[in-house]
Amino acid sequence: MKQEADHHLEVLLTRDQIQARVTQLAEEITRDYSGAGELVLVAVLRGSVYFAVDLSRRLNLPFILDFIGISSYAGASPSRGIVRITKDLESNIVHKNVLLLEDIVDTGLTLNYLIQNLKTRNPSSLRVCAFLDMPARRIVNIPVDYYGFSLPDLYVVGYGLDYHERYRNLEVVAALKDPK
Ligand code: IMP
Repeated sequence: MKQEADHHLEVLLTRDQIQARVTQLAEEITRDYSGAGELVLVAVLRGSVYFAVDLSRRLNLPFILDFIGISSYAGASPSRGIVRITKDLESNIVHKNVLLLEDIVDTGLTLNYLIQNLKTRNPSSLRVCAFLDMPARRIVNIPVDYYGFSLPDLYVVGYGLDYHERYRNLEVVAALKDPK
């Protein structure tokens, strides 16, 4: 797949594979949370937006959809996992069931920070649903309760994932062969 003159993209997950898996995940989550009380879906900006929209549309449950924005501290080493909240939740999550929706769990540092932060707000439960899991690159061992696909150590784009803000809108997930 030749998307840009300077990037070679190799498709790893097709649109149909992604959509079928998201439907399965939504069915599983619907079963697990049926009758469980109020559910707040927390989509992590910006990468998880496409996943959150597709998944939430297929849930057969009442829920509140909320967003949290994060970014790495300027100048901090990405591997340290020091992140800051750029947009906080609008909902109060005390005594609510919270399901964090993330695009990819790579080192796990970002999610680890978010989990610690959200736990201090006393939700009645807090689980993680990640579209992609990349276990080979994990630095912090965090629980991923639901995931769409597990991938090897590659840089991937599409379905919300970007390379310098590009390729988020691809309907497939592709490996970026020659990042520069
Ligand atoms: P972490 O390493 O688990 O903290 O991942 C932090 C964030 O980096 C993820 O939420 C993604 O937004 C981004 N990221 C990590 N790996 C990739 C990748 O392969 N492609 C695009 N973005 C990535």
